[in-house]
Amino acid sequence: MKGIILAGGAGSRLYPLTSVVTKQLQPIYDKPMIYYPLSLLMMCGIREVLIITTEYDQPFFKNLLSDGSRFGIKIQFETQPEPKGIAQAYLIGEKFLQGEDSLMVLGDNLFHGNFASFRAAVKQQLAKEDGLKAQVFAYPVTDPERYGVVEFDKKTKEVKSIVEKPEKPKSNYAIPGLYLMDGSAPERARVQKPSPRGELEITDLIQSYLDEGSLRVEVISRGMAWLDTGTPQSLLEANAYIATLEQRQGFKVACLEEIGLRMNFVDTNHFRKVISETPNSPYRDYLNIILKEYEEE
Ligand code: G1P
Repeated sequence: MKGIILAGGAGSRLYPLTSVVTKQLQPIYDKPMIYYPLSLLMMCGIREVLIITTEYDQPFFKNLLSDGSRFGIKIQFETQPEPKGIAQAYLIGEKFLQGEDSLMVLGDNLFHGNFASFRAAVKQQLAKEDGLKAQVFAYPVTDPERYGVVEFDKKTKEVKSIVEKPEKPKSNYAIPGLYLMDGSAPERARVQKPSPRGELEITDLIQSYLDEGSLRVEVISRGMAWLDTGTPQSLLEANAYIATLEQRQGFKVACLEEIGLRMNFVDTNHFRKVISETPNSPYRDYLNIILKEYEEE
């Protein structure tokens, strides 16, 4: 199972914030936004990740994350020359994927809560049971028209269709930017036709699995937070959410070095070396607290 983070796009709804710094590098409280989707992949056990960015932004992502060895993972980069839709990520990522299954997360999607259902989905996908080839999630929102939306059959409750930003949504269940797909995703994206707005829509790709009966849609429990970061207001709210949690618990959300250690991607020796290379900062103080916890075990 490989991971993809799509972090391209203009982020025009955040202009002028995004005129110099791209959306996925904007701060969410004490870390750049991309830490959060990357932490999700890592917590699902994924250690090979492709990050897709614009050409302009790529050096900044490389400066930030390098090759991922600090966190015990392997990060590669590809360029999205011009944004042609989310499904385009599978074309750009085809060489990286080499026919393998993948979990793709959008670089501006922030999840928080118990990731057990995501981990279980990855496990099930790898087991190739039930003829399932893809899985997406559904999450209730008050503004479904802004997202890909699931339409359920009124009687059977089965998924009938997946529609991108419908004017009149048939449910309030949005599809978050987290897509688990088998190795056929690039082939499917290749034969896809651009939508009227000229994009390879992710919803059409998902629909291709639905049409052949190989898609699972899982409703995410309401205890999970899926936060939007696309507007100044939602960005502010996401910042406040993480700040509140971290202040209250004393734990950091999406601390990639910590996750690498807890997932056994790195050992304490490596972690110690990473700390020694980290600038003197509250972040380093936190890493030291985690190290101490391990040394006392
Ligand atoms: C994209 C997808 C949409 C999905 C959303 C999740 O929309 O096209 O299906 O629900 O991400 O964040 P965008 O936010 O790029 O407009």
